[in-house]
Amino acid sequence: MSGEIPESELDAMRAAVDALPRRRDQLLPALLAAEHALGWLPQPAIEHVSAHTRIPLSEVFATATAYSELRLDAPVEGRWHVCTGVACRQAGADTLIEALGERAAPTECRFLCALAPVAEDGDGALHGRCVRERLLALANADVT
Ligand code: FES
Repeated sequence: MSGEIPESELDAMRAAVDALPRRRDQLLPALLAAEHALGWLPQPAIEHVSAHTRIPLSEVFATATAYSELRLDAPVEGRWHVCTGVACRQAGADTLIEALGERAAPTECRFLCALAPVAEDGDGALHGRCVRERLLALANADVT
């Protein structure tokens, strides 16, 4: 999978992670730095964070999967993630998923529950208080 990521982008990710102290307590900052550099956390990023922080790969991966803010899948152009946490479901997330059809993917709570329902565009921008019409307008503008 790393073959699809330009080496220059991987170098930028490594530089961002390497700028942090090599300490265990830097795990989350390192994961966030890597994700900020690449837009998501591919395997080389997880491995580099592990090597830099000296934390076992399995522990880094477990941490990365525990936080819904961290993206382990490559962004897909035109794909929207709609939060399916309790608050967002209560506020109509299912209607949004249905409206987006194949362009929608469910995601876990994004910790913006007060702004439910919440959707994330393909660039990682979060949109709160989404109503069907506004979300469709944003999604349609996203693909044109
Ligand atoms: S339930 Fe959707 S942001 Fe928390």
